[in-house]
Amino acid sequence: MSRPAPTARPTSWWLSALRRRAERQDHQYEAKPEPPRFEDDVQRRAALKFFNAAFRAEESGIRQAHELAGDVAAWDAELAEVLRLYGNEEGWHRELLEEFLTELGGRVEPMGRVTSTLYRVYARAKRMDSIVLTNLMFETIGSTTYRMALRNVSQPAARRMLTILTRDEAFHVPLNVHFLRRVLQREPGSPRRLQRLYLLLFCSLTLLPLASRPKARAFDGIATRDLMRAYALELGRLFAREHDFALKPPALLLRLLGISVRELTHDHAASPTSVESAERAIDREHVQVHAL
Ligand SMILES: [Fe+2]
Ligand SMILES: [Fe+2]
Repeated sequence: MSRPAPTARPTSWWLSALRRRAERQDHQYEAKPEPPRFEDDVQRRAALKFFNAAFRAEESGIRQAHELAGDVAAWDAELAEVLRLYGNEEGWHRELLEEFLTELGGRVEPMGRVTSTLYRVYARAKRMDSIVLTNLMFETIGSTTYRMALRNVSQPAARRMLTILTRDEAFHVPLNVHFLRRVLQREPGSPRRLQRLYLLLFCSLTLLPLASRPKARAFDGIATRDLMRAYALELGRLFAREHDFALKPPALLLRLLGISVRELTHDHAASPTSVESAERAIDREHVQVHAL
């Protein structure tokens, strides 16, 4: 059976898209809704936990992207610039979230045990392909959580924040697929090692809702099993179409969560990693945000 070649875009395409986005970043979203109000303090505390987790993801995103930009500059100045602009978008999210945490009557809190372990392991990654793959998978679960939360959250200020994040992450996921492809072209490394890392991250991230649900569920209303299934589905879909990476998801875990191979490959254009979805996500004002 012949498989269609994955659609890809050159670095210059990503660079011009990011430059266009950077011009419009700051003066958008000026109309702010009323300050956030919640049903009760349990819900407000859960919202604080939710957006604190988002803050940590953005913080790690900007740091890794800018560090990679420094390394990549030696062999691909254009890609380095793409990484820098991408990191800036994460920096912008970090600022928005910091401000939003204050509006919620809270602040940036120290990380919990599970989160800090996860980021400590990530920060130790040295190989560029490991860093990019990890980042891509973090982006995927972030964007999945935001989209699912949008289905349940009705509070206008929180919805505004979730919509901004969802829109941008829709662009970041396929962008990270481009990074991974470029890094592997430059330094192929061991496919087995990358496959092992993919499996390890896949399983750890799919189990993450067991730790996050008790803290954030009163805000986002997402059940543990639903979020685990959605993480596994989106992480599995990541490479279901990009055959050149030859990364295979853990079959047993997918089966346990009731995900079939067909579901992974179904509806190509809607795949979060596709260039089609990046194209739809370039212009923020035209992006249609779909709750999952
Ligand atoms: Fe972000
Ligand atoms: Fe992102």
